[in-house]
Amino acid sequence: MAKVKITETVLRDGHQSLIATRMTTEEMLPILETMDNVGYNALEVWGGATFDACLRFLNEDPWERLRTIRKHIKNTNLQMLLRGQNLLGYKHYADDVVEEFVNKAIGNGIDNIRIFDALNDTRNLQKAIESTKKFGGHAQGTISYTISPVHTNETFIKLGKEIEQMGADSLCIKDMAGLLSPYNTYDLVKALKKEIKIPIELHTHATSGLGSMTYLKAAEAGVDIIDTAISPFAEGTSQPPTEPMVAAFKNTEYDTGLDMELLNKVSEHFKPIREKYIKNGLLDPKLMGVDINTLIYQVPGGMLSNLVSQLKQSNAMDKFEEVLKEVPRVREDLGYPPLVTPSSQIVGTQAVLNVITGERYKMIPNELKQVVKGMYGKTTLPIKEEIIKKILGDEEVITCRPADLIEPELEKVKKETAEYMEQEEDVLTKAMFPQPAVEFFKYRNAQRYKIDATLLNEEDMVYPV
Ligand code: CO
Repeated sequence: MAKVKITETVLRDGHQSLIATRMTTEEMLPILETMDNVGYNALEVWGGATFDACLRFLNEDPWERLRTIRKHIKNTNLQMLLRGQNLLGYKHYADDVVEEFVNKAIGNGIDNIRIFDALNDTRNLQKAIESTKKFGGHAQGTISYTISPVHTNETFIKLGKEIEQMGADSLCIKDMAGLLSPYNTYDLVKALKKEIKIPIELHTHATSGLGSMTYLKAAEAGVDIIDTAISPFAEGTSQPPTEPMVAAFKNTEYDTGLDMELLNKVSEHFKPIREKYIKNGLLDPKLMGVDINTLIYQVPGGMLSNLVSQLKQSNAMDKFEEVLKEVPRVREDLGYPPLVTPSSQIVGTQAVLNVITGERYKMIPNELKQVVKGMYGKTTLPIKEEIIKKILGDEEVITCRPADLIEPELEKVKKETAEYMEQEEDVLTKAMFPQPAVEFFKYRNAQRYKIDATLLNEEDMVYPV
């Protein structure tokens, strides 16, 4: 039986894609036990932007969130998204930080770690895959899917084979921009199934309206697992909805086996939460519709909205079309990187700068310079020689694995964290998000004193005279 398994994303990508990752642990809690009984392959609950959002916007300890979820999800695998050597931050970290992070993620309850690299440079996946296996987790290697004149199905098959050889337990085709079309997906999955033995999981977004059809054809081609979101947090820039996929496969050889009544309970729980975020304006109806721009310009939905806000800030919305045309040109200059965090931000910002300054590469943020220098790894095609010369001058491009140049940093961060530390995990929080971490630690401290203060009973107070 070619049963298709389902990974539910509402607790990570679903709310990251639709409400800027603002769902709180409190909103998740009442439904966790029900979700645990549905029969999902896994629940994606952590990583991506959730860590950052917990600290920055929700005053939540992301580690505490993970432990709380784990306490209520006893039977279903918990999954997280990890940006390879970038962990959950936006730059490369030393190997000792990567290893310790993976150790603590698994120690606090994560089972499956989906590991990707924005440039598809497998050297950036190596340490995270190795560490996941060392600490007993399931290491899922990832193809960051993209379209370009140099990316063919052969490119991705070669990459898939390489990832399997690195020891990954499964392979994810991560289509963060929703670029996959149903028939091409069929060919890609079919070819990959022929070449590799590990299970294949498909991750797409409904942005262009093709998502559910893509999953249907992927199932026919033998995909093992698909990522869906429960309907109140599905569609638009999120995943295709869980319930219709389950219904579509019912009583076929692809039957997911999920309990529709339980799914309905899960859906009923998230409906009022969706309403709340529509009312407070965080869930923009524009994100809910079909947006074909993602296919035309080959950029992820989230990147389109970033470009809009950057242009609004510079009072240059009239340049939107021009910027959209500049994005593929910057990509071409840089050897066609897939557009996913952090490459999407770097390419997008450069395209905006190239257009609003009126001269290409007149202004160059440090991150772009680092990409050109090879500090993020290597791109599918080499970066154009003239761009390297223009941006680096006489500086040399590195050719080794970028993290080989980073000295161990764990001990140093430990010292910096000492005065705030309440748990070993705090060191990792500080390593990835130095400023927001300290602010959160201070908030956490202040909260405790507030609680202690309420314990003081005024009648028992002694008033010195
Ligand atoms: Co996604």
